[in-house]
Amino acid sequence: MNLKTQVGIIGAGPAGLLLSRILHNHGIENIILENRNESYLRQRLRAGVMEQGTVETFMEAGVGEKLAKGKMVHEGIYIHAKGIQNRLDVKELSGGKEVTVYGQKNITNDMIDHAQKDEIQIVWEAKAQRLEHIDDDGESAIIHYSLHGKMYTLECDFIAGCDGFHGISRPSLPITQKNIYSYEFPYSWYGILAEAPPIAHEVIYAHHPDGFALQSMRGPELSRLYIQCPNGTDPGAYEDEWLWDELDKRLGVTNNRGNIISKGVAPMRSFVCDVMQHGKLFIAGDAAHIVPPTGAKGMNLAVADVKVLSKGLIHHYKDKDDDILNRYTEICLRRIWKVERFSWWVTTTFHVDENQDEFTTKMQEATISYMLDSQIGGQSFAENYVGLPILWNEKK
Ligand code: APR
Ligand code: PHB
Repeated sequence: MNLKTQVGIIGAGPAGLLLSRILHNHGIENIILENRNESYLRQRLRAGVMEQGTVETFMEAGVGEKLAKGKMVHEGIYIHAKGIQNRLDVKELSGGKEVTVYGQKNITNDMIDHAQKDEIQIVWEAKAQRLEHIDDDGESAIIHYSLHGKMYTLECDFIAGCDGFHGISRPSLPITQKNIYSYEFPYSWYGILAEAPPIAHEVIYAHHPDGFALQSMRGPELSRLYIQCPNGTDPGAYEDEWLWDELDKRLGVTNNRGNIISKGVAPMRSFVCDVMQHGKLFIAGDAAHIVPPTGAKGMNLAVADVKVLSKGLIHHYKDKDDDILNRYTEICLRRIWKVERFSWWVTTTFHVDENQDEFTTKMQEATISYMLDSQIGGQSFAENYVGLPILWNEKK
């Protein structure tokens, strides 16, 4: 079907769903085109740590009732290093802020439920193929999309490219290799979801000679655990027994063992595209940047982009003011680079490159002990972990 709306959104990940909800709340019409089917989106297992500002954004957007009931609030984190279990009091170090564990799968489901209740149109299995009139004055932008083998159009004032790393929006911007900054880490994460009560009530990050490990959770009876593995590791590579032994050793705890219901391998990459808009096209979330999972910033970054983009669009429609839209890339990038730095720093501090020399290991140990021993070292970690502010003013 050929469609028409004010904002055409490509992608029903966290970025697209949240943008749609905020615009809807402000009376701005929008339609989401999503390549995959609904059950795939509802089941996709992903990260789970939300910054305080991210939780507030979901609450303000009116999609947070289940989040408020099901959230696990963390006031600190454990750091296991040199065989000692340490705890950083993130709340105290950040001046009263905390993080929340609530699965991205859950918040995605909550937002789809709300969209359906309010009859926001999500066209499932609709793949955006080509964008037209992005920078033609006086012409509406057009998203050409395919649905069940036929081509259709979605005509709109603005296109929000929330179509993730492999989408078509970023390649539709006038960019060259010079606009892309990318780094692949020489290791991956092997993640499991297990029907077992998490042994610690907060996340544990472990620095161990055999590699990084992390304990997290998805509920009182569900543990989410990761260990570092070589790039290219097959998800079936590790036996359950070996995994539990390895996790116990690296995390310095005796985990509750239970049925492992999911095993998966995630590569680790940092990526930034420093052009996030052109004419009527704006990209947000993984379409514009990727972080390695250490530090849990992926979804939080996407939410921050959406906060800026939605505010820009609201000012455009309600006040005829394009100041924020015009500065969208600049406002987002100012924060994105700092979050990229934090994710890279936590990743390189806690993982072991198999070719790593002893000096590098000592530097990692010193970085961790600075974080634990120095008030300022701890505050610096905590400030980033709970989430940096969005700076709206013109950059000096
Ligand atoms: N047409 C329509 N939909 C598309 C197209 C296309 N051409 N290409 C991709 N999509 C859809 C994907 O199927 C996916 O559902 O766009 C969506 C993008 O969603 P995410 O990859 O979840 O990206 P984003 O919303 O930016 O997520 C932000 O959450 O889990 C994290 O790693 C994720 O950290 C990222 C964050
Ligand atoms: C998770 O719960 O999936 C998680 C927690 C902390 C991280 C990354 C992922 O740093």
